[in-house]
Amino acid sequence: MKARRSTLPLTCDLRKLMYLFHRLALAISAAALAGLFGSGQNAPAAETPAPASASPARIVIDAAAPRIASSPELYGIFFEEISRAGEGGLCAELVQNRDLEAINLPEGWRQEGKDIYTAKGRHYNQWWQSPTPAWSLVKDGAADGGIALEKANPLNDRNPNSLKLIATRSGGRIGVANSGFWGMNIQQGEAYDLSFYARTEGNRITTLNVALEDDNGSTVAASGKVDNVGGAWKKYTLALTATATNPKARLVISQATEGTIWLDVASLFPRKTFKGHGLRQDLAEMLANLKPGFVRFPGGCEVEGASISSRWNWKESIGDISQRRGLYNVWGYFNTYSLGFHELLQLCEDLNAAPMYVCNVGMSCGARQPAEELRGDALQPMVQDALDALEYAMGPITSTWGAKRAVNGHPAPFKIKYIEIGNENSGATYQANYKVFYDAIKARYPDVITIADQRIPNAPVEIVDEHYYANPARLFGMANRYDNIPRSGPKIYVGEYAVNSGVGQGNLLGALAEAVFMLNMEKNSDVVRMCSYAPLFENVNSREWPVNLIRFDNSQVVGRTSYHVQRLFSENRPDEILQTTVTAGTVTLSGAASAARGGPATQAARGGRVGGSDVKLIYALAGMDNARKELVVKVVNPTPNPVSASITVNAIPSLARTGKVITLGHASNAAENTLEKKTVVMPVEKPLTVAGQEFKYDFTPNSLTIFRIPAP
Ligand code: AHR
Repeated sequence: MKARRSTLPLTCDLRKLMYLFHRLALAISAAALAGLFGSGQNAPAAETPAPASASPARIVIDAAAPRIASSPELYGIFFEEISRAGEGGLCAELVQNRDLEAINLPEGWRQEGKDIYTAKGRHYNQWWQSPTPAWSLVKDGAADGGIALEKANPLNDRNPNSLKLIATRSGGRIGVANSGFWGMNIQQGEAYDLSFYARTEGNRITTLNVALEDDNGSTVAASGKVDNVGGAWKKYTLALTATATNPKARLVISQATEGTIWLDVASLFPRKTFKGHGLRQDLAEMLANLKPGFVRFPGGCEVEGASISSRWNWKESIGDISQRRGLYNVWGYFNTYSLGFHELLQLCEDLNAAPMYVCNVGMSCGARQPAEELRGDALQPMVQDALDALEYAMGPITSTWGAKRAVNGHPAPFKIKYIEIGNENSGATYQANYKVFYDAIKARYPDVITIADQRIPNAPVEIVDEHYYANPARLFGMANRYDNIPRSGPKIYVGEYAVNSGVGQGNLLGALAEAVFMLNMEKNSDVVRMCSYAPLFENVNSREWPVNLIRFDNSQVVGRTSYHVQRLFSENRPDEILQTTVTAGTVTLSGAASAARGGPATQAARGGRVGGSDVKLIYALAGMDNARKELVVKVVNPTPNPVSASITVNAIPSLARTGKVITLGHASNAAENTLEKKTVVMPVEKPLTVAGQEFKYDFTPNSLTIFRIPAP
């Protein structure tokens, strides 16, 4: 693995660690996981809150001191196809492996028995269990036959495989079932649109029966039929309305007669999707509620691929779904590009968020050795690929790629604001390639802001992307991370961060450590311009990363505690940061035995200890919401005890006596929201009364507290 060296101390080593963790996590049980990390949902129960700390904490807010303008795009999101974030997630497509291409190997890869090798020799085990993943034979009564993956007479060269259904005996129905992504969520009264391609031998014409039904076909939620199916490849459509609800339905396409039929690119969408653009309503709403300033996409390691040929390839992801050539992705499953480049740009527009496109920089993923690196002439097609992506998004409809965007339904340009040159790449090849990409992009699109994966000697860097996956102690220890960062260097984008070890599948302790780190990013948002938690989504049936922000199955969704922290920070981002001085003691967090230690110390002077487990009694940051004319104060109490603090607000004589307080907390820092118990840790809003510019407040154990006090 090529590690990113000097500037980003955590990223690549941790990335490899996380990758190894991912493999380990797949291999061992959930119980073992909990034991390994000694925390999480199975962690020791809540600490009993003790009386308010004897060491008083003090917060002094000085509105007269110089203010810092906060970054309007500070809080954004990062979408990557990992843990079925899109396929079987955000994309509302209900059919899994719709194009029957799931077992295709990326170009240059080879198979020997059940061993698969990239062109450079990286080894994988055969990842499919059957040649037709998610598809199976259905036969009732006396009917008989079989299914097979067919390579002859393909629908087109981008979809070389089709599904052959051979009915050798009639006397019941014989057909194919698609399981969806761990079932299809079918809701009574809702409309569903089915489409598929079919061909038959010669001129045989048949009728196909369609059902959305339970696993054994005994309860049907919707049904219909398509007549006159036959001859050469043609597209057929059918609208269905569900008369019953079944969150775990399957799709069955069957016939009642003997004969062979071939099917391909079968797709089923609910009619109701987010803004009518094909995304799952509930998941997209979770994103909309975060009010993201930007969306980084499409990865992540997905951008790099396990080989250059298996990178996320935007040109294969646009247009008619029957023309999209999917690929085996780095996270171990097939990406049909159901969420392609166009859909992701549309998502940005629908969220009113600035698009941040990450392009491959001619390097495959460094954490998946041996990696590929392109240089010189071999690099040029990749540079052109990035320029073409920008033209697709923003070019006039008279341009080659702008015209394709118009054909795909969006004549007006999408405004790509940022392009990241590579993902987590580093080293000599990266530095050389970065410069080539930077020059080419800036020559053609001078207004697009570029982001680098590291600081580059002798090349301009506008923004540098840092990634942090860490344990709680590490993020608590970063409470002052950016206070002394030189203001003369590149701006910073923290593109990926999360507490994802020592917290099981994520818990309140992790969320509070993230909140402390976020306070510091917000405080320094003149230099830290953007940040995004990662990863964003997890289908609970396919967890490829230990801790993720939003968890879902095919019919439910839950925001983890960290989600609510993200949302609260985004909703309560002030326009100007006020000088905020915190004086508080420290404690050592060690399960229930946390105890006050040390005397008062100022946050600025003392700071956290990287790698230690000391935390301050409270962390705080204040700012002004200029539009609403409100003082906004965010306070984290990471301890299991209430903390009593005095708050002094200097130089805001108009401060109202009443406002509101929002608290996100729980008696146990191991608390977490799950699909089974979605509201264990939720923000609670209450009226707030303050004595004046100086008041006291008892911050509840394990909490994030936000005051909003009018200051007209
Ligand atoms: O977020 C998961 C992975 O972590 C991303 O794909 C990669 O950029 C990082 O290593």
